[in-house]
Amino acid sequence: TATRLRDTHGRAITDLRVSITDRCNYKCVYCRTGTEGAQFAELPIADYLRLIRIFVSLGIEKVRLTGGEPLLRHGLLDLLRELKPLRTLDGAPLDLALTTNGHLLASMAEPLREAGLQRVTVSMDAVDPDTFHRITRVPGSFEQVLAGIRAAKAAGLEPVKVNCVLLRGFNDDQVVPFAKFSREEGVIVRFIEFMPLEEDRLWTPGVVVSLREIVDRLQTFRPVQRLVPNAASETAVRYTFDDGLGEIGIIAPVSQAFCGHCSRVRLTSDGKIRTCLFSQSDHDVYGVMERGGSDEDIAEFIQRTILHKEARHHIGEPGFLKPSRSMVHIGG
Ligand code: GTP
Ligand code: 5AD
Repeated sequence: TATRLRDTHGRAITDLRVSITDRCNYKCVYCRTGTEGAQFAELPIADYLRLIRIFVSLGIEKVRLTGGEPLLRHGLLDLLRELKPLRTLDGAPLDLALTTNGHLLASMAEPLREAGLQRVTVSMDAVDPDTFHRITRVPGSFEQVLAGIRAAKAAGLEPVKVNCVLLRGFNDDQVVPFAKFSREEGVIVRFIEFMPLEEDRLWTPGVVVSLREIVDRLQTFRPVQRLVPNAASETAVRYTFDDGLGEIGIIAPVSQAFCGHCSRVRLTSDGKIRTCLFSQSDHDVYGVMERGGSDEDIAEFIQRTILHKEARHHIGEPGFLKPSRSMVHIGG
């Protein structure tokens, strides 16, 4: 137990998010400008695997593959097949998940399941096609993603979670339509408060639709009921309706920051450890590997890096600095 990852604030780090590419086929307004030069940085799949194995040997229990768009990455299925047999320090199977925009999911759901993926989270910011296309800036994407969500359910990649980042003036009229979507499609819908991570300068406190406001809008549809938290480190405050049909989570990093029980660390697509979404710098664990470091050297580097994980983010406070890299580079 001495080897388990812990920081100086006493938090146990059990959740690893790995970006396996920083390429994306969408240009969502709240993430990318879509005009940036093509500067992509990916590691060979075998190197992500080696790093993930070492993280797991240090107590990681949940691995989430992200991007960019992870379904664009060749070798993803091979990576999943290698991750499937890994066990946590307690001998349990890893909780293996993936966050995708869903564009390629319709044809990939079944192969993903067969390769060992257990569940999937799809980012979908509107249930109205026109609104959706205004956000992703890719025509036809709505129909693709809807088909992807249904295919994921059919393949048993459950629970299917649907993440929606609410932006005032873009999609804040989608709260009740998404509540109905959750009930009709049998998926968990999660509304996420917009964080200042985008390449464009879109973020202001006024654009954020807060948890309080989301709950108020849900109440105009049907009375909501709080669900009992599954775990202390859970990011979402969960609700259902008076008849128990549908599940809505609200992730409120802005109005109700959850840093105090954060259990997460990130590995960027170019092999850097990021201890917080809002870190001002990254830690080059891949550099240790490239210089011929042993697994022990790498493990030691990871432990030292995690120790100094930031206490919390400072969104909305005077002097707040936006991180130098946007979500597409950091990994969701
Ligand atoms: P599961 O419970 O395993 O499904 O994962 P999760 O609750 O971590 O959800 P998911 O990975 O889908 O993350 C949902 C959203 O929460 C992300 O897209 C981010 O917007 C936000 N989020 C995730 N991790 C962090 C974090 O470390 N800091 C902050 N501020 N927000 C985060
Ligand atoms: N604020 C909140 N959530 C964001 N995501 C991307 N950018 C932001 C942001 N600025 C979400 C995406 C996706 C996940 C990877 O992160 O919608 O669900």
